[in-house]
Amino acid sequence: MRYVLLAGALFAAACQTTGDRNPAEENAQAKDLHTLSNADSILVRRLALDIAVDFTAHRIDGAAEWRFDNPGELPIFCLDTDGLTIDSVTANGRKVPHTLDSAIAFLGSRLSIPVKKTDTIVRIWYKTGSHATALQWLEPAQTLGKKQPFLYTQSEPTYARTWIPAPDGPGIRFTYTARVTVPKGLVALMSAENPRMANDSGVYHFRMDQPVPAYLMALAVGDVAYKAIDGRTGVYAEPDMLDKAHYEFAEVGKMVTTAEGLYGPYRWGVYDVLVLPPGFPLGGMENPRLTFATPTIIAGDRSLVSLIAHELAHSWSGNLVTNATWEDFWLNEGFTVYFERRIMEAMMGADYADMLWELGYQDLEETVTSLGKDSRDTWLKLALKGRDAEDGLTDIAYEKGAHFLRRVEETVGRQKIDTFLYQYFNGNAFKTMSTEQFLRYFNEELLKGDTTLEAKIRVKEWVYGPGIPDNCPRVPQTRFTKVDTAREKFLKGEAPGTLETAGWTSHEWLHFLRKMPKPLGLPQMEQLDATFKLTATGNSEVANQWFIMSVAAGYKPAFANMDKFLSQVGRRKFLTPLYTEMMKSDENAAMARTIYGKYRGNYHPLAQETLDKIINK
Ligand code: BES
Ligand code: ZN
Repeated sequence: MRYVLLAGALFAAACQTTGDRNPAEENAQAKDLHTLSNADSILVRRLALDIAVDFTAHRIDGAAEWRFDNPGELPIFCLDTDGLTIDSVTANGRKVPHTLDSAIAFLGSRLSIPVKKTDTIVRIWYKTGSHATALQWLEPAQTLGKKQPFLYTQSEPTYARTWIPAPDGPGIRFTYTARVTVPKGLVALMSAENPRMANDSGVYHFRMDQPVPAYLMALAVGDVAYKAIDGRTGVYAEPDMLDKAHYEFAEVGKMVTTAEGLYGPYRWGVYDVLVLPPGFPLGGMENPRLTFATPTIIAGDRSLVSLIAHELAHSWSGNLVTNATWEDFWLNEGFTVYFERRIMEAMMGADYADMLWELGYQDLEETVTSLGKDSRDTWLKLALKGRDAEDGLTDIAYEKGAHFLRRVEETVGRQKIDTFLYQYFNGNAFKTMSTEQFLRYFNEELLKGDTTLEAKIRVKEWVYGPGIPDNCPRVPQTRFTKVDTAREKFLKGEAPGTLETAGWTSHEWLHFLRKMPKPLGLPQMEQLDATFKLTATGNSEVANQWFIMSVAAGYKPAFANMDKFLSQVGRRKFLTPLYTEMMKSDENAAMARTIYGKYRGNYHPLAQETLDKIINK
């Protein structure tokens, strides 16, 4: 007992990092609060995974082999795990006694492996646990094809450790290879070089030669097929979805070229999109070489492809230059939203991108209102000590971050910000960036001591201050002005059929509906529905907004389709506001509980966690 305690204490001490690689000040600022590994001192180089996917047991098991350098000659190598069973561990081929600490909230269990100075390889045999947050196992009934099961992972922010023992911090990069065994007939895909179709053996080999952090480790297994868009882009989807997806994403090749024209070469080789079954909890995830996407963006008219522009933009902001810690999340997401809108502007015109800016501003206002305008969580630089990383990851990073860059653009001019961003992405490629490092870089490369510029931008207020700064840009609207006119006419009693809605995209519909009085009267709900068939819309964004309005107005004719929507869609961005709206009255809350009771099992563990809190309030 005493020995164990002592060993535990020694191990814990050994896991303190040396901090040799960074000046003390910088290291303190970039301290990652969400990893228990010491991989900023023991430098991991390459991961070789050898795993098998068991759909019956809902388990992944196999081995993870880490190659590393240990310049500080530390005696213990520490990794993050969460819920994993560790079967055995070797260091340079010798069996070694590992310890697995008990779990710490939001962090999981530290795995400590004693190593010799000369060791360069550890190999860990392990199995995933029954509540692995990263993994969603779908029964055949939850897929389009209904015949085969499906598995996909979601590792960001801190869930890679639930399926791989890994140094799981965004500031720690490594290359990887993987051998993945799956049931015959299914295809396995990773954030790496991928196969184009199923093979007979069920064994797939992968390699990723560019160093990536653990949150970009990704795996999907299912009955999927591939169709090329052009020489370097393509789509994967379940066979029944493939043609639709291919049509929707036909512009993706051009999108990559457009992005390159803005901020430099695409460095990851191919860019493919994998369309997942509808239970996917996110809109999209920027897994390198293979964006994971929700099928809810397949609207039939290409009107929701800005989401792909977003995930593609992460190939620069996030995947190339990576936030040092989750407190610096705005460096990933804010830059990506800005870049996404620049891509959309280049492809669709400024009046189109202006709509995205306005909807984003509305999201920002709503987030600031719900968090509180003085809330610490509305700073760009977050404070996540002792908290679930996930809790801090709100629209603030996305929209306040993007609007900050727009403020910079409007102050220094487009040419200067573009030169700056080009250098930022290319000069820092495959590196990690903390907020403080960024501010230093920004001062040196852009402000260059110009106090007038600084006074106009007021960087500190944006980064280390709450709410929406009063110099936040507001983007003038052309297309939405027409929408506002249409809405006003309708609210004054004009028949919806006479409104000029021809040619409206999802964005116009969203704006039209969002700014309606809440609740809208039942006769007006009926009128809108009769004319525009909103209850039956196949556009997920519009449907979601309409169902929220229907709940608020008590518009029952929409409820059957809402029920169906909630049975299929797993995207948290839709589920959270819709269930939240239902919980506002007793009658609707009862309906929410019934619906959630039926469909909870369809949702991703992450969505379940969020929704459990809303429903059980
Ligand atoms: N990287 C994020 C997804 C993410 C964020 C995962 C935080 C885990 C924690 C991805 O790029 C993203 O932002 N997805 C958005 C869509 C986007 C168009 C705003 C989403 O899923 O809604
Ligand atoms: Zn993103």
